[in-house]
Amino acid sequence: MVLPRLVDFDSQTVLEEDTEVLVVGSGAAGLSASLSAARAGRRVMLAAKSGFLDTASDLAQGGIAVALSKNDSPENHLQDTLHSGSGLADPEAVKVLVREGPERIRAMLSSGAIFTRDGSGLAFTREGGHSLPRIIYASGDRSGAEVIRTLSPLVLQNRRIEIREKYFLVDLITSGNSVIGGLFFEGEKKIPLFVRAASVVLATGGLGQLFQETTNPTISTGDGMAAAYRSGATLRDLEFVQFHPTVFYVAGAPRFLISEAVRGEGAILVNDRQEHFMRSYHPDAELASRDVVSRAILDQMKRQAARNVYLDCRSIGANFKKRFPSIYAMVQRFRIDPARDLIPVRPAAHYMMGGVKTDINGAANLENLFACGEVACTGVHGANRLGSNSLLECLVFGERTGVAAAAAGKHIFRGRIQFTRRWKDFHLDVSDLKRSLNALAWRHCGIERDGNDLEFTLEKLKEWQSYALSARFFDPSGWEMQNLLLLAGLIAQSALERTESRGAHFRNDFPEKDDKKWLRHIDRKIG
Ligand code: SIN
Repeated sequence: MVLPRLVDFDSQTVLEEDTEVLVVGSGAAGLSASLSAARAGRRVMLAAKSGFLDTASDLAQGGIAVALSKNDSPENHLQDTLHSGSGLADPEAVKVLVREGPERIRAMLSSGAIFTRDGSGLAFTREGGHSLPRIIYASGDRSGAEVIRTLSPLVLQNRRIEIREKYFLVDLITSGNSVIGGLFFEGEKKIPLFVRAASVVLATGGLGQLFQETTNPTISTGDGMAAAYRSGATLRDLEFVQFHPTVFYVAGAPRFLISEAVRGEGAILVNDRQEHFMRSYHPDAELASRDVVSRAILDQMKRQAARNVYLDCRSIGANFKKRFPSIYAMVQRFRIDPARDLIPVRPAAHYMMGGVKTDINGAANLENLFACGEVACTGVHGANRLGSNSLLECLVFGERTGVAAAAAGKHIFRGRIQFTRRWKDFHLDVSDLKRSLNALAWRHCGIERDGNDLEFTLEKLKEWQSYALSARFFDPSGWEMQNLLLLAGLIAQSALERTESRGAHFRNDFPEKDDKKWLRHIDRKIG
């Protein structure tokens, strides 16, 4: 039996619940998995860390990449995705994504999803790395919200699904090689709760909050990934973090994404001197892959000692407001009119390609443990995710994972579980440590990396981990910081180990791709 780590209670105070399929996370992947597990006849508990509707999926702007236009085919989509993955995307997983994608979108449409249409049917926009316009979108730049708007009522109305809010996953509980449930901290009554389950699906999203600059909401703290690692699951591809090139950068503004679709519709990047610079970095200019554009921006910022570059959207003109209403509303608050003014932008951490290693049915290497969405590493993204493939991944692999988790069995472990204290009791300033961690990760595990810096980072992290991973906390902020601290070490180790540059992982000291040595994955497993 594996003991949970850091919870301040003993077995007498831990309440219990049970379910057949426990789904952790209520974004697009969690909703899809819950619905398919319930359709398979299972009793499902969907546990959301915050409110049921507070999810990163809700914020996704660009859209959903899917081979539905008459000039497109799953084969084209497959080739673009493999190309973007830079040799490390798994063709079997990508085939599943691109072949099942159209069916999932048709299911969304019959459930009432409204995607923008033009005269001939669904409208398609373009993003970097796609050989043709392939991205469907909703309300301009509210694509993720439309997915949530469509799926969440289906979950709410489904009598087999119970929803729990403010359930923070502290740890997975195992018996031998099997996951038998999750230990939660219930934020309303502030009590620990053990949920026994026949199978557990992690749909907990990413870890953008590790970085000082990120597009991710505050809930994206890698909780599922860290819990999976502690329980013995294999994590894969952790060195591959995607940085989005264009995030709004104005003092006092939230780090709000300016969708790649804005560049897809014709916006260009200019530097402090209003020079259009992307052509000198890549023939695809603004629509080169995200790593190329992010590094070009960084280079321009360094050359000009500038804190940002600018998006020039003036060619979109008055149409901007209609095409990108949320972005328009945000920049307007800061007195910027995209039809006339330049929008200050710079890169930020956006998406974690790595995660809990799974097969194409979402199964991890521990019995009864499944993962889907950003927390998972199904192999569809490889070293670099193709823009707008992630909502599709949530729908396709969420569905498959729910089916597989439902089939995994009805057996709920009934043995006694002993929860034991294992922490050291001293005060730790969580926000201070988180700030230091954010700065360290941004500087040394960010867009450009270097062996010496990564070694320094690992030393620092080891020092912080030596006291912070065993400190005692009474609320999720401390556990979130511990999760990020743990994952930072794993990311830095993988980034140091990969002595080449590939996809989103760029090493200044190894700037070339090395297929001979590195056409392979790096896995991390405890022990
Ligand atoms: C964007 O709208 O630029 C983000 C889309 C994505 O990350 O796939």
